[in-house]
Amino acid sequence: MVKEIDNPIIAHKLAQLRNKKTPSKDFRALVQEISMLMMYEVGREFKSDEVTIETPLTSCRVKILHEENFVIVPILRAGLAMAEGVSKVLPAASIGHIGLYRDEKTFQPVEYYSKMPPNLRGKILIVTDPMLATGGSSSAALQMLKDKGAEKIIFMCIVAAPQGIEKISSEHPDIPIYAAAIDDGLNENCYILPGLGDAGDRIFGTI
Ligand code: PRP
Ligand code: URA
Repeated sequence: MVKEIDNPIIAHKLAQLRNKKTPSKDFRALVQEISMLMMYEVGREFKSDEVTIETPLTSCRVKILHEENFVIVPILRAGLAMAEGVSKVLPAASIGHIGLYRDEKTFQPVEYYSKMPPNLRGKILIVTDPMLATGGSSSAALQMLKDKGAEKIIFMCIVAAPQGIEKISSEHPDIPIYAAAIDDGLNENCYILPGLGDAGDRIFGTI
């Protein structure tokens, strides 16, 4: 399942992200803001529990989420800025990290780091990476998480290419993909078109 989130505020912020003149500090802040806004949409699918609490006047039934059941998993590096935004919405969620980079010649993912909370069974993992291009990196990250026992995973990106969506949907049909935009395709270097360039470099000012 892929859902392109249709929201004028997100579209407005994404327009600024795409602009090559947007400086790194604004780019980073925009990625965080878009991720926060996307979480409201993603959260519509979450199941609440009903509990009884006391207001200052009386008791009442309220709907809550067990935030501690959520694990935010940024794919390093670019996913970190998205994780900042998501954790503003779910501050009690734990945060795991997966380090992968895309080899510049082969475009294949190379794993260099992983640190997850223990016992992922029963947890809801929210994996963040702004760019879903060929899908090689995210598909490998999702498989790593499944190998560590993850059962319920949601994948959030900002820009997705049809090729990446196809790869995740066929290799991980159980994992929903949320994107702020589905773009046209990839260029010869596997960059998303029209895209926004190299997300990690623009977030961290390493261009
Ligand atoms: C980028 C991006 C994704 C990956 C997408 O990361 O953040 O992880 O490329 O490409 P793919 O779908 O073709 O695998 P990059 O390898 O540039 O690492 P970085 O986050 O450290 O910049
Ligand atoms: N990684 C990026 O950061 N941007 C792209 O367009 C593709 C992969």
